[in-house]
Amino acid sequence: MTLSEPIWLHVCDVDAIPRLGTRVLPHSSGDIALFRTEGDNVFALRDKCPHKGGALSQGIVHGEKVTCPLHAWNIDLRTGEACAPDVGCAQRFPVRIDAGEVYLSFDETMCGEVGEVDEAGAEATAAV
Ligand code: FES
Repeated sequence: MTLSEPIWLHVCDVDAIPRLGTRVLPHSSGDIALFRTEGDNVFALRDKCPHKGGALSQGIVHGEKVTCPLHAWNIDLRTGEACAPDVGCAQRFPVRIDAGEVYLSFDETMCGEVGEVDEAGAEATAAV
C-alpha cells in the first residue's frame, strides 16, 4: 500500500477573502468556495449545498458555519456537515495558511484545471 503526499496548491492571499465573506475558486470538477471567519480561519467546501445544490459562496458566514441562501441550512465549515436536524455533507478541502497565503490540499482524485479566485484578482499559481 502506498500513501500519496497531499498536493498543496497556492490559491490566494488571506486578505483576498473578505472577513466573514467568501470567494470562489473555479475548478474543472466544480467550483470551490473559500470562507474566511471573523477570526481569520479559512475553510474550503465544494460550492454546492448538500440539500439542493445552492451556492454556499452566496451564503452568510457566521462563527464557523455558513447559512445556505436557498433554504437556510447551516453547514459546518470545519467538516462540511449540515447541522442537525438537517443531514448531508458538502465536500471539504483541507486548507493551510502559511505567511498569510492560502493553500488547498488536493488528492490524486482531484486533478483538474484550476481557475483564478474571483473578484479579488488573486491567482492560483499551479494546476493540479
Ligand atoms: S439548497 Fe441549501 S438549504 Fe436548500
